[in-house]
Amino acid sequence: MKLLITGGCGFIGSAVVRLAVAEGHEVVNLDALTYAACEENVASVAAHPAYTFEHADIRDRAALDRIFAAHGPDAVMHLAAESHVDRSIDGPGAFVDTNVTGTFTLLQAARAWWEGQGRPASFRFHHISTDEVFGSLGPEDPPFTEASPYDPRSPYSASKAGSDHLVRAWGHTFGLPVVLSNCSNNYGPYQFPEKLLPLFINNIKHLKPLPVYGKGINVRDWLYVEDHARAIDDILHRGRVGETYNIGGHNEYRNIDLIRLLCQLMDKKLDRPAGTSEQLITYVTDRAGHDMRYAIDATKLRDELGWMPSLKFEEGLARTIDWYLENDAWLESVTSGAYQAYYDRMYN
Ligand code: NAD
Ligand code: TYD
Repeated sequence: MKLLITGGCGFIGSAVVRLAVAEGHEVVNLDALTYAACEENVASVAAHPAYTFEHADIRDRAALDRIFAAHGPDAVMHLAAESHVDRSIDGPGAFVDTNVTGTFTLLQAARAWWEGQGRPASFRFHHISTDEVFGSLGPEDPPFTEASPYDPRSPYSASKAGSDHLVRAWGHTFGLPVVLSNCSNNYGPYQFPEKLLPLFINNIKHLKPLPVYGKGINVRDWLYVEDHARAIDDILHRGRVGETYNIGGHNEYRNIDLIRLLCQLMDKKLDRPAGTSEQLITYVTDRAGHDMRYAIDATKLRDELGWMPSLKFEEGLARTIDWYLENDAWLESVTSGAYQAYYDRMYN
C-alpha cells in the first residue's frame, strides 16, 4: 500500500513510519517540522527507496491537494497534532488551529481526492487519537471502552475530541471510509522530553529536580510506542470501516510509583548509590485541571484483531532508559535552543 502518514517526524508517527517501511509499504511522510519533530527520528529509513518526505502543514489546503495528486495514497494515517497538555494550557490557540482546523483541512483534501478517484471503498482515513477525549476516571471506575461518552477537559483533549467528531462526521455524511483509534499514554524511544518519562530520564541524568505535579497520585495507563504502531498497522489492514478501536497497555501506574521505579532503575544503570535519583523528587504546583486517571479497555482490539501488547512494562521501561542513555546526541540536540526557554517558563 501507499501510505500518507502525517506527523511522521514526531514520536509515535516516526514509529509508524519505521514499521510501515519495514512491512514493505510505500510511505509519504508529511510533517510541518514543529518543535516536536526531529528528522533524526526517521533517519533509519530516510534513504529507503519506498520513503518520501513532504515538508508541509496540514492547514495548507493547496499543499495537501498537490501531495494527494502527486502520490495517490491508498490510505492516510493521521498523527500530526499538537500533543502536549501543558503547552495546551500555556497556549491553546495552536491546538485548535492544528488539531481541529488542520484535521478539517486534511479531511477536505482527502475527500476531494477520494471523490476524484471514484470513491474507492478500499481507501482509508485512519485518525489516531487519545484516551484523554473520554475525560477522567475515578479510582474504582471501569476503564474506558469505545462506548464511553466524550468528556474532554483540557484544551488538548477538547481539540482532539473535536477532530474525532469531524472524522466521524466525514464518514457518516460523505461516506469517506474512516477508522479511528484512541490510545493511552505512550512511552519509548524518540519521545520529546517535555512528556513525563523522557523529561525525568533527562533530569535524572543531569541530577536536576524531578517536578511531580500535585501529590503524584494521578494514574496513567502506559503502552510501549512500538506496540501502538503495531496496533495501528493491524487496524489499517483489518479494522472495520467506521469503527473505533481503543488501544491500551492494561498497565496502570500512579505517577509517583512509576517515578520511584524509574529512579531505582536509573540509579542502577548509572551506577549511582541507591536513593540518589529519589532525592531529586520535588512536589510542585499541580497542573490546572489535571485529569486524575486514564485507563483503557482494549478488549475489542484483542477480540477482533488479535492484538495484545508484546512487552512487559518493566522490560519496556528498561529498554527505554537504555535508549535515552545510549542516544546522548539525540537528547542533547532536542534539548538545546528553544527547549531551554520552554523549560524555564514551565518549571522555573
Ligand atoms: P508529537 O508531538 O511527538 O509529534 C507530532 C508531530 O506532528 C510532529 O512531528 C510535528 O511536527 C507534527 N505536526 C504538528 N503540527 C503539524 C501541522 N500543523 N502540520 C503537519 N505536521 C504537524 O506527538 P506524538 O506523541 O507522536 O502523538 C502523535 C499522535 O498520537 C497525536 O495525534 C496524538 O494526539 C496521538 N496520541 C499521542 C499519545 C501519546 O502518549 N503521546 C497517546 C495517544 C494518542
Ligand atoms: P504527560 O507525559 O504530560 O502525559 P499526559 O498528561 O498527556 O497524560 O504526563 C503524564 C503524567 O505525569 C500526568 O499525570 C502529569 C504528570 N507530570 C508530572 O507530574 N510532572 C511533569 O513535569 C510532567 C510533564 C507530567
